[in-house]
Amino acid sequence: MSKLRITGGFPLQGTVNISGAKNAAVAMLPAALLTEAPVTIENLPNIHDVHVLVEILKYLNVGVNWESPSKLRIDGSTLQERRVPYELVKKLRASYYLMGTLLGRFGRVEIPVPGGCDLGPRPIDQHLKGMAALGADIEVRHGIIKMKAGKLRGANIYLDVISVGATINIMLAATRACGKTVIENAAKEPEIVDVANFLNAMGARIRGAGTDVIRITGVKELGPASHFVIPDRIEAGTYMVAAAATGGDVTVKDIIPKHLDPITAKLREMEISIDVMDDKLRVLGNPFPRAVDIKTFPYPGFPTDMQSLAMVLLTQAEGTSIITENVFEGRFKHVDELKRMGARIKVEGRTAVVNGRNQLSGAPVKATDLRAGAAFIVAGLIADGETVVSDIGHVYRGYERICEKLSALGARIEEED
Ligand code: EPZ
Repeated sequence: MSKLRITGGFPLQGTVNISGAKNAAVAMLPAALLTEAPVTIENLPNIHDVHVLVEILKYLNVGVNWESPSKLRIDGSTLQERRVPYELVKKLRASYYLMGTLLGRFGRVEIPVPGGCDLGPRPIDQHLKGMAALGADIEVRHGIIKMKAGKLRGANIYLDVISVGATINIMLAATRACGKTVIENAAKEPEIVDVANFLNAMGARIRGAGTDVIRITGVKELGPASHFVIPDRIEAGTYMVAAAATGGDVTVKDIIPKHLDPITAKLREMEISIDVMDDKLRVLGNPFPRAVDIKTFPYPGFPTDMQSLAMVLLTQAEGTSIITENVFEGRFKHVDELKRMGARIKVEGRTAVVNGRNQLSGAPVKATDLRAGAAFIVAGLIADGETVVSDIGHVYRGYERICEKLSALGARIEEED
């Protein structure tokens, strides 16, 4: 994998355009297979996860055609039932959305147990609970999940854990089940609403997405649709934190400000100036941000995907901050590398204590996952000297043209093999 070499000390200035939401896109591409009619998805981010999913669609004999770098036409009429090889599935945890889709389309599916980021244990028991409730017989052997349902039937499902993936996966399968499905204790992320809007555009009957109760009335078939993916709120938050941390002045464009509320509120609590307009916002860095405590929670709480980014910013704050990671076990793997850059952080279980007023120093670091890699890039932007982030492929999974976008804002950053 290639590396990024960053020289710190340059405040970011200018405007950055935000791309389509990765976590909506990776659900929409499988969702497109629920209909035999052609669909068009616009504002797809040019990221590795999208390209892996396109490879999987091609493997399943689906017609795919890029009408522009961000607009894809999908024709699911030729979809074939084939087991997707582990080599493809292991690259992308979100390949689990093929479960709900292929079960909904064919009434059966065989798929390897998914891989994905190293964020500690990532079970899929809630996904399987949902599929079983809809009538699937499930067998997991030798790393392969086999599901057989004949015809899916609607059910009432109360999730034990607020899970984005399980909420979407069950919604996918229920779309073509016989009868009504109710998902309670559902996740409320904006990406779930976007996927529901896409499915409804095809003729699905989904109500309540974005609340903790989603009602789906199954339909026999779906039609054509075209959809424009919502902006990526985590990419936007990443540039907001980078602007704040470097003491810069950055306008973040093509956003839905409401989706950024938990991030905007927390940065304002740190006394960072944020001016929100209709589809953009302007961040003015504060050289002495206030130390604050952060607790990650499902939306509309502070996003777990922003935890590592916020941690870097808090190393610059006046005082000591406490970060509590309530969503994932083991999502502090970025701390050791930040400590190698001079950060003073102490981790106890799900809590990290971050000492502020830290001048970080550049160092070679290794990305362990997508958001940790992004955090190391931001740390490199403010560190004294040079930082080399290796295994940068993790970052390219979810950030479109990050090197180009940061360079355009004045960052000293370059890619090397
Ligand atoms: C989605 O992952 C996102 N990925 C993650 O973003 C994000 O961090 C996460 O939601 C939380 O918002 C995609 O959308 C592709 P969960 P997902 O199911 O669906 C537990 C990124 O950087 N759980 O909401 O896998 C789970 O262990 C990625 O873009 C179960 O116990 O997350 C976790 O503790 C990283 N059983 C919690 O629920 C299950 O069956 C939330 O997980 C499923 C999940």
